[in-house]
Amino acid sequence: MYRDISKKQLETTVALLQQGGLVALPTETVYGLAADASNEHAVSKIFKAKGRPSNHPVIVHVGSIDQLNQWAKDIPDYALKLAKTFWPGPMTLILKKQKSVLDAITGGQDSVGIRIPSNPIMQKVLQRFDGGLAAPSANRFGHISPSSARHVKQSLGDNVDLIIDGGPTSIGIESTIIDCTGNHPRILRHGMITENDIEKAAGLTILKNTSDAPRVSGALKSHYSPVTKTFLANAQDITKHLQDNRSIVVLSRSKPNVNKVIIHDARIPTRSTQYQGKQHWIIMPNDAQAYAHSLYEQLHFADNLACDALLIEEVPNTMRWKGINDRLKKASA
Ligand code: TXA
Ligand code: MG
Repeated sequence: MYRDISKKQLETTVALLQQGGLVALPTETVYGLAADASNEHAVSKIFKAKGRPSNHPVIVHVGSIDQLNQWAKDIPDYALKLAKTFWPGPMTLILKKQKSVLDAITGGQDSVGIRIPSNPIMQKVLQRFDGGLAAPSANRFGHISPSSARHVKQSLGDNVDLIIDGGPTSIGIESTIIDCTGNHPRILRHGMITENDIEKAAGLTILKNTSDAPRVSGALKSHYSPVTKTFLANAQDITKHLQDNRSIVVLSRSKPNVNKVIIHDARIPTRSTQYQGKQHWIIMPNDAQAYAHSLYEQLHFADNLACDALLIEEVPNTMRWKGINDRLKKASA
């Protein structure tokens, strides 16, 4: 359920950020670990808290499009079209950076990632803060991204000054990252905005990814990983593992065809915490948007079951599922 921020919480949040503190805040994609993007010391604390290599760039979140020129320059027309179409929303643009942008933000590159998030709490904070907030996903480096305040607490604990609970995030997976430093847009990380929609909004075709792509930690082969050994599987693999009586948890869009497994339904938020037996089956939504929305919650849940293996049943190989497919591949790499 969506939760708003109280007036007092908002004041505390903004004051902490102004003093160089770290605040975990909800966005519509995943929770972000926010700090003042123009305060070098504050930004360095993000890397420490996450255990993230210092040469990985972070996204700067701003409240409105008027602030774009403070961070980026030589913004191509097509990037402005994308901005006007998808912001506020789950999209990050990589643009040529202004001189003043800290190296800690860009990882020493001459580009900067910018996003205007739509989550109302994040929007309120940005309006009141009136500056840029550096915010990577609020999880330890390499762990599953947080789609709820509880996940942040589990992953970062006391390494953050304050966690604002805005309920589960609506989109559920990270923003689509589009490199706009060339003549054509290029997708660096898929999210829930489709290639068709991007081409339509930009009025240009998307450039295929090449190896000189800027550094994106989300582009590392293994990322978003559960601790449990995770595999992408088809229906036959899953049946076989069930028959072998292995301790497994299955993430699937269909119902199990055996009756010995403990069934959890991702579409029903409350469930029993009494588990017996060693085979679990999590029924995932059929629709891509609903699947993305519950993916990280279910991965966290599955991981906490501490089975010997997590089997994720393959999802459709279509454009709408690209961002999800990408996360599943990384979770199982
Ligand atoms: O949805 C999201 O994008 C979330 C929410 C909190 O906004 N943030 C997020 O941040 O996913 P993070 O740091 O976990 O992933 C951002 C990605 C990283 O892989 C980083 O390398 C890439 O963006 N990135 C940031 N600035 C970049 C730049 N100048 N060039 C290339 N990649 C960049
Ligand atoms: Mg991340």
